[in-house]
Amino acid sequence: MKYRGLPRAVQALLWMTFFGVIGIAFYGSLPAAVAAIFHLADVAPEKIPWMTSRITAFLAYGALAASSIYGLAMTTKTLDFFARRTVTDRLHEDLSFWGLLLGATHAILLMFDDYIQFTWESILVPFAASYRPDAVAWGIFALYLTALLVLTSKARRFIGLRLWRAIHLLAFAAFGLLTAHGLAAGTDSGTPWARALYVGAVTLIAFFFAVRVLQKITGANRR
Ligand code: HEM
Repeated sequence: MKYRGLPRAVQALLWMTFFGVIGIAFYGSLPAAVAAIFHLADVAPEKIPWMTSRITAFLAYGALAASSIYGLAMTTKTLDFFARRTVTDRLHEDLSFWGLLLGATHAILLMFDDYIQFTWESILVPFAASYRPDAVAWGIFALYLTALLVLTSKARRFIGLRLWRAIHLLAFAAFGLLTAHGLAAGTDSGTPWARALYVGAVTLIAFFFAVRVLQKITGANRR
């Protein structure tokens, strides 16, 4: 379907709803979250690096999962009827970039945690960590793959579409490694909200992937 754009009234309504929901969420949770951080800094300051590493881990996972889902929604042309392609391309790239930055921050913060005692070697070299070496290695491989995907997307013009596309298929491996890493290494994997996040992300990716495969088989969505 071709881009037609949403009517201005609908756009205004969507933005108002968006800011309304964000406002309510902040109003409801921000004071409690700030109080909890100050309390933690008071009673157990040594836990701050570990807590912030876990927060950045989930933000990174959210950004990279959203980027993958968004990418598939683009290739299946699901978004074309209400978003212009250049806008969606840019958002897809930005989400990956921020996911990469947050993922690196998550790993670096672990070096300040006294309990697992990570060094540069344990965050950079797969299987070198003494803490859950396999699960941590999956995170390291995923981080390197994400860096490769971000860099080759920036250099798409120089490396050519064919090579870029072949490399871009590695995004599926990166997402699989990230999900396995979060589930196997994480403290929060057993909580209902973390499970909902992992299951939701995997389900959406599987859904769009199936749509893409069907489109390929039936010849729909040809350029
Ligand atoms: C883009 C890259 C990465 C993403 C998106 C990511 C994401 C995650 C997520 C979602 C968790 C679960 C957190 C929890 O349940 O509390 C986690 C845990 C963990 N990650 Fe990563 N990770 C990435 C890269 C790395 C790297 C490179 C390392 C190398 C040190 C690493 C080490 C760990 C460790 C040790 C844990 C367990 C922390 C804990 O919960 O105690 N991650 N990661």
